[in-house]
Amino acid sequence: MALICSCQDFHSMKLTTFVPFTKTHLVYSRVSMSSSFSSSSARSIASKEALPGNLEKSLGHAQKPQRSLSTVTHSMPPEKIELFKSLEDWVKTNVLIHLKPVEKCWQPQDFLPDPASDGFLEQVIELKERAKELPDDYFVVLVGDMITEEALPTYQSMLNTADGIKDESCSSPSPWAIWIRGWTAEENRHGDLLNKYLYLSGRVDMKQIEKTVQYLIGSGMDIRTENNPYLGVVYTSFQERATFISHGNTGRLAKHCGDNNLAQICGTIASDEKRHETAYTKIMKKLFEVDPDAAVIAFANMMQKKITMPAHFMYDGHDDDLFIHFSIVAQRLGVYTVIDYANILGFLVDKWNVEKLSQLSTEGRKAQDYVCRLGQKIRRLEERVPLRSEERPAIPFSWIFNKSVKL
Ligand SMILES: [Fe+2]
Ligand SMILES: [Fe+2]
Repeated sequence: MALICSCQDFHSMKLTTFVPFTKTHLVYSRVSMSSSFSSSSARSIASKEALPGNLEKSLGHAQKPQRSLSTVTHSMPPEKIELFKSLEDWVKTNVLIHLKPVEKCWQPQDFLPDPASDGFLEQVIELKERAKELPDDYFVVLVGDMITEEALPTYQSMLNTADGIKDESCSSPSPWAIWIRGWTAEENRHGDLLNKYLYLSGRVDMKQIEKTVQYLIGSGMDIRTENNPYLGVVYTSFQERATFISHGNTGRLAKHCGDNNLAQICGTIASDEKRHETAYTKIMKKLFEVDPDAAVIAFANMMQKKITMPAHFMYDGHDDDLFIHFSIVAQRLGVYTVIDYANILGFLVDKWNVEKLSQLSTEGRKAQDYVCRLGQKIRRLEERVPLRSEERPAIPFSWIFNKSVKL
């Protein structure tokens, strides 16, 4: 969806994308799907004792009855761990180069008023004035993006549960572990910068946002990567591109509204995401080279389960469907849409030369066929007639002081 709006157009924007209102149609669906591409190798069933409802809720655990939980763990055959060990030198030479030395990295303070400077208060006033030009629905999306970034502990945990690449000691010299720590350290600046910007903007209810972050980190995520690095790298490749797109789009919208400073903030974060996308897609490309059958089966497995967004357990203490509501607003503003989802899939199919893979097993060919056709199917869904503006309900968001925003 093209970002064609001016600031005044935000509330009357023509809706050209399919905005799903039934939960099962959402790209971000939390509904469980079984996968016919799951590896039949070593699995265990993760047992999970349910906490009493109130206790779960107060701790930030699953408060939503429809929540599905992964049951498959350690699905990569143990002998493949050796393959990941054998790639360590390759990672050192080819992947670690995509981390930037700290001294060459931007830091959040580069984009924010300096509290030690004499002009600090004036700079904050200017920032707040610019923020007044941005509409409420824009802030809903920016807050959702920031909260997603702030749940970084969950993402580092996910990578450190992946067999063959995890950081065994939290300071392991393995190139895989160096990558995970370096990537996390770079990502940490994203939530930090957006959080500080939003705090200074005066447009949002920081306490509600902080509660949402705490709930989210307490809830974790259920992305069904099964401690399997093939699945994990497909997931991160997809996600880095998704965040590159969404931060880029929030930047473009800020620019439309004349806030070049915020546009620069979003654009700078987007360029980090692009660099991370390059690294993860490169790892996956290598796996396609050395183990094409497992790679394409993993790709199909993740796509069949759908790429669940990492913040899908988002909760603010009020709205049980907060993530769905945030996602619908993001889609309506064109920040992240069903078409983006299909485009990312197509981008990865091309990047990994999936159509040209040969000498695959029967299961591999089936997986190849599935991912190559899936983009078309998703696009057909997008062609459904969207709801008219007057048919869309308005939902209060606690992040913006319970002001209502149209879905
Ligand atoms: Fe990020
Ligand atoms: Fe990222």
